[in-house]
Amino acid sequence: MLRKYWWILLVVAVALGVHFTAQNIIHHGDPENLKGPDLAKVARIEAEDPARGARVRAGMEKYESICRLCHHRTGHGGKFTPAIGGRPAAYVEHMLKLYRSGAKVGPMTNLMAPWAKELTDEDIRNLGAYVETLAGTKP
Ligand code: HEC
Repeated sequence: MLRKYWWILLVVAVALGVHFTAQNIIHHGDPENLKGPDLAKVARIEAEDPARGARVRAGMEKYESICRLCHHRTGHGGKFTPAIGGRPAAYVEHMLKLYRSGAKVGPMTNLMAPWAKELTDEDIRNLGAYVETLAGTKP
């Protein structure tokens, strides 16, 4: 029996391995990280201050499409990425411009810099505005 069907066990073991690895990469083993951005909060900011709200929303769209993968939903960071949620906009903008300039920042500069190089000044302002609104400490 085992001689003939050992490959089934192998396939199941590999499938489980792929499943748990993907799960860990995508939401760090935490289902909370599968949630979308805090749209209610963005809407609140838009109602209070439309100009800032527009930046925050544009920043959110960019963040969700690129940055979230590594810095996570609320910017709390991951095993290999720093927490950025809640940092002042000016700080985030400054750091993004540093990476964009090609400067060596931390030991993992090469992981971050290619993303910054794709950003316009406008993107950077929007991302600063959005990241500042993030909670950062919890997924
Ligand atoms: C492939 C993963 C990855 C992606 C995607 C990514 N980052 Fe990063 N980010 C990193 C890593 C790793 C670092 C730390 C690099 C170092 O050692 O200097 C970092 C650093 C930063 C820092 C500096 C944090 C600090 O306090 O030192 C900011 C701000 C930042 N990222 C914002 C962003 C934004 C905004 C985006 C989306 C445009 C983004 N990152 C996309 C991996 C990533």
